[in-house]
Amino acid sequence: MTIVAPILVTGGSGQVGGALVRIARERGIEVEAPGRDKLDMTDSRSIVSAFENARWSAVINCAAYTAVDRAESEAELAHMINAVAPGILARSAQRHGIPIVQVSTDYVFDGSKSVPYTETDPVNPLGIYGRTKEAGEAAVRSSNTKHAIIRTAWVLSADGQNFMNTMIRLGAAKSELSVVNDQIGCPSSAIDIAEALLQVTANFPDVGGTWHFTNSGQATWFDLAAHIFEAMARRGMSTPVLQPISTAQYPTPAKRPENSRLSTKAIQTDFNIRPRAWREAIDEILVQRLGEKG
Ligand SMILES: NC(=O)c1ccc[n+]([C@@H]2O[C@H](COP(=O)([O-])OP(=O)(O)OC[C@H]3O[C@@H](n4cnc5c(N)ncnc54)[C@H](OP(=O)(O)O)[C@@H]3O)[C@@H](O)[C@H]2O)c1
Repeated sequence: MTIVAPILVTGGSGQVGGALVRIARERGIEVEAPGRDKLDMTDSRSIVSAFENARWSAVINCAAYTAVDRAESEAELAHMINAVAPGILARSAQRHGIPIVQVSTDYVFDGSKSVPYTETDPVNPLGIYGRTKEAGEAAVRSSNTKHAIIRTAWVLSADGQNFMNTMIRLGAAKSELSVVNDQIGCPSSAIDIAEALLQVTANFPDVGGTWHFTNSGQATWFDLAAHIFEAMARRGMSTPVLQPISTAQYPTPAKRPENSRLSTKAIQTDFNIRPRAWREAIDEILVQRLGEKG
């Protein structure tokens, strides 16, 4: 696709959207990422008006209500942002004849499968967040516009609100830490996800569809915490003694899938995207966050 007009990016202050805007601008790809003061995903008029007096080549929706536990008590707000707003964006895109990329999540699955999920596996979200994201996927699919739904998981970035930054904060303050060791997934760099989204946007498929993108390999939250603390220790930072625990020992308002692994075979075949190993991708983020190794 020749990009003739700017790409409209929502959620440009978030982990994935932020990385996307940075990378695109570095490459001279024109993007515009209005903040929520200009494009508020809880306000349908605000979404529609982003298409008035503007010409976009594509929309990449990285905005979302991502507070998984809080969603259990803010279902309506999560539904508006994750389900209703993507539908309005997609229908606006359809009216302007442009495609939409919708970012989605492993939480559309219940995690009961023993191997990585493929795009054709049936969805069965366990909580409100997953249900609203699934409804967002459905709204985009039914909009009749050219679309690509890209599901990802376990997103990490140097400055976002994520597991890595929680571990760095707690790790520096505590002498012992217990971390869940029976949920399995693949830590994924916001930078690598953003690269994949740009690659999909630049080679938009004629037929819409759903693809999975994560980094490669697998880990539990415990494995990821251990990797983060090793990186801290190498830099002379103090780290806690790490204890593996079960999900049952760490109850949260929202249930999480036991297996969050997503198969990336389809995106590799269809877009020639080759996910890096998660350790390599996360080490790059750890360097940004903690500085070069001592
Ligand atoms: N984080 C994960 O581990 C994870 C895992 C799987 C899939 N995903 C999916 O990946 C995508 C990106 O996630 P992320 O981690 O980058 O999210 P994030 O860091 O939480 O960022 C969310 C973005 O959405 C924006 N937003 C929220 N409510 C809004 C509203 N009412 N109007 C306009 N903008 C609003 C936020 O803006 P403000 O800065 O103004 O709040 C922020 O820019 C989402 O679709 C998410 O569901 C994430």
